[in-house]
Amino acid sequence: MNGWTIDHVAIVVADLEATIALYTGTLGFAQLYREIVADQGIEAVGIRTGDSVIELLRPLSEDSPIAKFRGDAATKMHHIAYRVGDIVAELARLKAEGVRLIDETPRKGAHGNTIAFLHPKSTGGVLTELCQPAR
Ligand code: CO
Repeated sequence: MNGWTIDHVAIVVADLEATIALYTGTLGFAQLYREIVADQGIEAVGIRTGDSVIELLRPLSEDSPIAKFRGDAATKMHHIAYRVGDIVAELARLKAEGVRLIDETPRKGAHGNTIAFLHPKSTGGVLTELCQPAR
């Protein structure tokens, strides 16, 4: 086994405030973080229950790739993020396995995490993020 656990599942939403209200009000989750990640062109809101996090993403611009990905849908699942212990080592291992990497070098994500995306062509069509939490 690779030792990965699911860190978060991310969903692009058209109406961030309504979706936060849905999750924290109706569904009873707690808001864990809310921040602008400028270099990814998104606002990210972490919604938590127990150890599980759903990350709501709002594109900062309507012509960004993530906005185009959502298209006409009100919400669309965007990626699954796995928590790993050593993101640099995992990227090297996966690259050696022939996995196509979107990020050859890890970068800063939301919530202090260090992240890297794997290309969905190498992960069965699912955009996949590796995520190393801040210590
Ligand atoms: Co993510």
